[in-house]
Parts: sequence; C-alpha cells; structure tokens
Amino acid sequence: MNCHRREFLRFLAASPLASRLGGADLSDPKEALSIRDLDEAAKAALPPAHYGYLASGVDDDVTLRANEEAFRHITVRPRRLIDIHEVNMNVDLFGRTWRLPVILSPCGSQKAFHPQGEVAAARAAKAKGVLQILSTVTTSPIEEVAAAAGGVIWYQLYATSRWDITQKLVRHAEEAGCPVIALTVDRPSGRNSETQRRMARLDSRTCSNCHPAGRFYDRKSMFKGIDMEGVTLNNPAMNWDFVKRLRDATRAKLVLKGIEVEEDAALAVKHGVDGIIVSNHGGRAEDSGRATIVSLPEVVRGVDGKIPVLVDGGIRRGSDIYKALALGARAVCVGRPYLWGMSAFGQAGVERALDIFRGELEMFMQQCGTPTLESISRGSVAFKPGLGG
Ligand code: FNR
Repeated sequence: MNCHRREFLRFLAASPLASRLGGADLSDPKEALSIRDLDEAAKAALPPAHYGYLASGVDDDVTLRANEEAFRHITVRPRRLIDIHEVNMNVDLFGRTWRLPVILSPCGSQKAFHPQGEVAAARAAKAKGVLQILSTVTTSPIEEVAAAAGGVIWYQLYATSRWDITQKLVRHAEEAGCPVIALTVDRPSGRNSETQRRMARLDSRTCSNCHPAGRFYDRKSMFKGIDMEGVTLNNPAMNWDFVKRLRDATRAKLVLKGIEVEEDAALAVKHGVDGIIVSNHGGRAEDSGRATIVSLPEVVRGVDGKIPVLVDGGIRRGSDIYKALALGARAVCVGRPYLWGMSAFGQAGVERALDIFRGELEMFMQQCGTPTLESISRGSVAFKPGLGG
C-alpha cells in the first residue's frame, strides 16, 4: 500500500500538474497559503481512486480546465481614492443573510474524502456563516447535516427516473427544513469520467470491498428504505414540463443548477423558477470547452434582473469571485476547493478554504476601490480579446 502510494506521488511529482508543489507536506491547514496548496495536500492525503473521483472532468477535461483558465482573460479596472477601510461582504439570498458570497456546492459522497464527510462541511459552513447545498447522494443523513450547519441548508435534487421517488426525496428535504431545492439539469444521462477511471487503476486497494457491485445506494442516506431496482439517478426524459411539475409540487424555492445559455435562462423565468446556478458541474457534465464565467453574462441577460443568478466552476482566488460578481452573479459556489481542504484536514480544512477566499476577496475589494458587493459592477471588469462565447 505504502509502496503504491509512493509510486503514485512520484507519478504526480513528475507530471506538469505538480509544478507548484508546496501543499503536499502541510501539517496544519493554516500553512496553506492558497487554495492550490489545499489541492496538493488533498493529493497526498487521499488514495488515488478517491483523488481521481475528486479531480476528474469528462473526456479530455477541456471544460474543467476552461473553467479555471477563462478567469485569466478577464481583467479588472481598479478605482482609486475611495474610502475602503471598512469592507462588507454580506450577501442576501431569499431573505437570509450570509457572511460571504461563497456557497459550498453540492458534492456527493463526501465520506470518500473524510470520515465526517458532509457534517464536516456543515460545521465549517456554520463557523464561517456561509451556505451549504447538500447533494442528493450525500453520505451523511440530511438531518445531521442540517443540524450541524445551524438549521438552514439547501438541497440539491437529482430527478430520478421515477416521479414518486423524486417526490419522496423532495418531501424528505422539506421535512428536514430545506427552504430551497436546487434541481441539477446538466446531467441528464451518462458521462465519460476518464481521468477518474485512469487514476483508479493506480489504486492497489480492492475497491469492491467498499463498493460491492450493484450496492451504490446502500451508503447514500437519502435512499434508505427506497427500492432503487431499475431506477436511475438521472432522468433522461427530464424537460420543461418536469420543471413545471416540480414547481407545482413544492413550496420550497426552486433553483436550476446547470443552466448555461440565455434562452434557457429566459425559459426558467417563464416556468416560475426562483434562481439559477450557472454551472457545468465543474467540467464533469460535458466536454463542451465552454467556461461558466463565459456563460454567466448571457444567463444574466436572459433573466433580466428577475431572479438571482449564482455561478460555479473554476473559482480558486478571491479575484475570481470578484470577476463573477462583476459579471452579475449574486454569489459564487465552490466545489473542489472545500473538498480539497476537507480531504486533508476535515472541518478545519474546509474552514481554511473559506478563510483564504474571505481574505483574498476582502483584500481585492480594497485594492480595487469597491468596499461593498453593490459597488462591484459590470464596469469593474473588461474582457481581453479572444475569450470567445
Ligand atoms: C460534484 N458536483 C455535483 N453537483 C451536483 O449537482 N450534485 C452532486 O452530487 C455533485 N457531486 C460532485 C462531486 C464532486 C467530487 C465534485 C468535484 C463535484 C458539481 C459541483 O456541485 C459543482 O458544480 C462543481 O464542483 C463546481 O466546480 P469547481 O468549484 O469544483 O471547479
């Protein structure tokens, strides 16, 4: 096992991805200077198959890389001679105020990263005053997560191929006190998680010990007592009628996660949706090569100010958050950054990721003469030529 771990680390050290080694030896999350350091620490902490699940995009990982790289094509126009000694990063979402415009994206199976999984994320979210969205495929019971988060979390919904089961999931989330359901619409069918599969080959452990064939739902607490025989997690038949049906079936606010173009944004408003998360599943849905930060302005145009727009994908710096807010996002969501922290240090690692984002955003807002979120506007940024759309 140790021998394979060493081999794996050597493989990583030799790869261009590892050019910034510096986080692998961290013993304390506070030593992480940047979100990237937490990635290195996660690489060192996780077995290859689990790191592969976390790191993977689909096909050639083009969208995954595009999400991060596109931020470099957006520049910021700093303003001067503005009193910035007090910075306010509070953000309001559906009548509730959060201390930072950073939300923990819904990510499944978090016990693959740390024994406390989603509960570790919830405790960190509570400590830092941020919102957590819980995945349908959570490995911790929703009631425990909601309690650890201090009462309010949002629930991410995968529309299964059976309406009665989908309804049960929604009821369960409502009973656990979730005021918002985020329906994921970017995964209607299968995907080719090639990086994940390649990295699993580097793992010397016998995966079937923990993942017996056909027992996927056993450790996914939302499905306890539900017979999933012949049912799929994703619903290939999902369409706008489904959105309407779901809209009518719940009193919770309904958010669509995975909208990427103006036409769909306008349709969402027409179907009574309350909010949008511009997302491509962190490059894990399709390898279109289109970054979410590129999609954001047209989605904002499509909703025409009627509902809030959030965005996720590739956010690794406070300046990335700033650019997303300038382009019309009310707040951003992050996935891998907090999972990297969790993988290496549990709750403390998630807290460190949030502290890094807070510190960087605060400093950047000061550097650019925009001490409140409202003062960050479309005029705060400019596009370098060639970003595409
Ligand atoms: C995800 N994501 C995801 N999304 C979702 O709607 N339901 C889910 O269960 C999951 N599971 C999941 C697992 C892992 C390991 C990752 C990395 C991501 C996508 C997630 O919510 C979010 O859209 C992306 O992670 C955002 O991109 P970044 O921040 O990871 O670049």
